Amino acid sequence: MSRPVKIAPSILAADFARLGQEVKDVTAAGADWIHLDIMDGHFVPNISYGPAVVKALRGHTQAVFDCHLMISPCDPYIEAFAEAGADIITVHAEAGYHLHRSLQAIRALGKKAGVSLNPATPENVLESVLDEVDLILVMSVNPGFGGQDFITSTVDKARRISAVIGDRPIDLEMDGGITPQTAPLAAAAGVNIFVAGSAIFRGGSPAAYADNIAAIRAAAQAASVR
Ligand code: DX5
Ligand code: ZN
Repeated sequence: MSRPVKIAPSILAADFARLGQEVKDVTAAGADWIHLDIMDGHFVPNISYGPAVVKALRGHTQAVFDCHLMISPCDPYIEAFAEAGADIITVHAEAGYHLHRSLQAIRALGKKAGVSLNPATPENVLESVLDEVDLILVMSVNPGFGGQDFITSTVDKARRISAVIGDRPIDLEMDGGITPQTAPLAAAAGVNIFVAGSAIFRGGSPAAYADNIAAIRAAAQAASVR
């Protein structure tokens, strides 16, 4: 089953003082999805923003809102992100005791459900939830901060997960240190959704965003196996 390459800019690297305009600009520059990184200072050692900010941004773009919850516990907040306008809600397998329940809760709200794995988490946890997910997010950095170096060993894990996905309608996403240099490694392993923060928002202008998105897209498409 062929799954198109999509580029999901992470607004963690945007100018937070003008987020609405940044979301508009990066959409016009060719973003397929907007990746929203939610951090709680507990599951990850950083704090970003919550559902009120997601809601405020919702009117600024038609793009899919891809909400990456790096929070623990996550269950008490799933409904708030659904109501704020998330289209996809991704929770971490490491963030709670009841991953299956969290995924069911997301789908029960009519949203797409994603599960994310930290670099040190083995993929076997996915076996029991494959029927409950629309997206698998393989972290290629330890979550919490933008601008970190890509961890190459996560590519093999993505390749094994891609084989397990097979023909199932599940997107395979990679997040962290994605650039035109690393995107082909991920694409060759079966990744079709590419999250990038610093590599897209560097340059600080709409023209730079368009160039940066196009460079990642071209590099990923050239190596894509999906
Ligand atoms: C990291 C976040 C990423 C981050 C990626 O915890 O999940 O989405 O914004 O940033 P870059 O692309 O700069 O590695
Ligand atoms: Zn993320």
